[in-house]
Amino acid sequence: IKYIPEPFRIKMVERIKMLTREERIERIKEAKYNTFNLKGEDVYIDLLTDSGTNAMSDEQWAGIMRGDEAYAGGKSYYKLVDTVKDIFGYEYVQPVHQGRAAEKVLFPLLLEKGKVGISNMFFDTTRAHVELTGAKAIDCVVEEAKDPTHRAPFKGNMDVEKLEKLINEYGKEKIGLVVMTITNNSAGGQPVSVQNMRDVSVVCKKYNIPLVIDAARFAENAHFVKQREEEFKNSTLKEITREIFSYGDMFIMSAKKDALTNMGGLLAIKEDAELFQLVKGNTISFEGFITYGGLSGRDIEALAIGLQECLDEGYLNYRVGQIEYLGSILDDNGIAYQSPAGGHGLFVDAKAMFPHIPYYEFPGQALAIELYIEAGIRTCDIGSYMLGNDPETGKQRQADFEFTRLAIARRVYTQAHFDIMAEALIAIKNRAKDVKGYRITWEPPVLRHFQAHLEPV
Ligand code: F0G
Repeated sequence: IKYIPEPFRIKMVERIKMLTREERIERIKEAKYNTFNLKGEDVYIDLLTDSGTNAMSDEQWAGIMRGDEAYAGGKSYYKLVDTVKDIFGYEYVQPVHQGRAAEKVLFPLLLEKGKVGISNMFFDTTRAHVELTGAKAIDCVVEEAKDPTHRAPFKGNMDVEKLEKLINEYGKEKIGLVVMTITNNSAGGQPVSVQNMRDVSVVCKKYNIPLVIDAARFAENAHFVKQREEEFKNSTLKEITREIFSYGDMFIMSAKKDALTNMGGLLAIKEDAELFQLVKGNTISFEGFITYGGLSGRDIEALAIGLQECLDEGYLNYRVGQIEYLGSILDDNGIAYQSPAGGHGLFVDAKAMFPHIPYYEFPGQALAIELYIEAGIRTCDIGSYMLGNDPETGKQRQADFEFTRLAIARRVYTQAHFDIMAEALIAIKNRAKDVKGYRITWEPPVLRHFQAHLEPV
């Protein structure tokens, strides 16, 4: 397919450098084979995450100058609150410094030991914050998400039948919350349909369980709904967003993704004033006063502007189009990935590329290491390495997928960079049988993949 041209021109540039292959082999060894330990300056194309890596617009940079740094009641805060109310239709809005801060503020108010949280799929920090309260986190994504080659329009959806079964199994009073992650990051940036939101909300209402939207990539999700859900083909992305959020009771958001900023987060509640009072208490303890929530006024200003910019259809066609372009080259070369292409990246099926590496030797991590050695591309594992050990048994868990995620920063890389990504993957595929697995030599107890040390098997 054709590459959709950038709907912007470049006004400022940042130099990047390419090390030699020998230097890269040395650097990744020094980093204990953990891509999070690499220095940014030793990376040529950084696909570690789409979080906080976005290029801001001239409008956002102008907003940075206008940011109001008042400790309490700043102008930028009110602008953000009005913007959030306008786009999402929720009454109570709390800025926080990033997504996991919203999780830390909210989850202890809904969960405790003995309780259960169910999600279409928890992202690793949301899972960690559920488990930190002592509660159990259960994923409940549709079965079709588990087959990377099966192309379905909404592979991020919740399996609603299974959800209801789980609620009955544990008892409804045990279920502290249901989380809908849009798009479903860990399943490959796959979207959730409006119909699925409706069905999940009916179940949550029936059993009186709060429905939380984890909204980091809400705009990409709205784009997919417009493309793929007949009922919404003539709706604006803002109308679709309103519709989706009308089914939730509250949302948490890492604003470092779709909202096109480098730092920021949000927590919003549709109508529960009592819960919002508790949220404000936790925010003051953990984040800062309620009108800045751990952010500078300038960050809040950039966020308010980014929330409007990200719902532009031309931008999203280009953004998602870049990833579909890369996917089409991989299709031509027989490289499997979670298909169709996701909203914020391509999740390459490392299990298919390295059938000889078992899950406990981390095929997704092996491919991440090879991409760095091959072309200075930094990625990460979304598989058993990221999933970690079972908190009850301490045993390595087997993930449903073994992906290597090529997460694409917004408005940052051009077509030539995408061609390099494709060439690197093709080169690795051609020598796949010689690639070896890895074992962990040291790991911390929580969120180990960020810090662990590895060595080749
Ligand atoms: N929820 C989802 C769905 C996420 O993807 C992330 C972060 C978070 C919550 C936490 O937000 O980083 O602002 O604290 N995902 C990043 C990623 C880190 O690379 O996918 P945060």
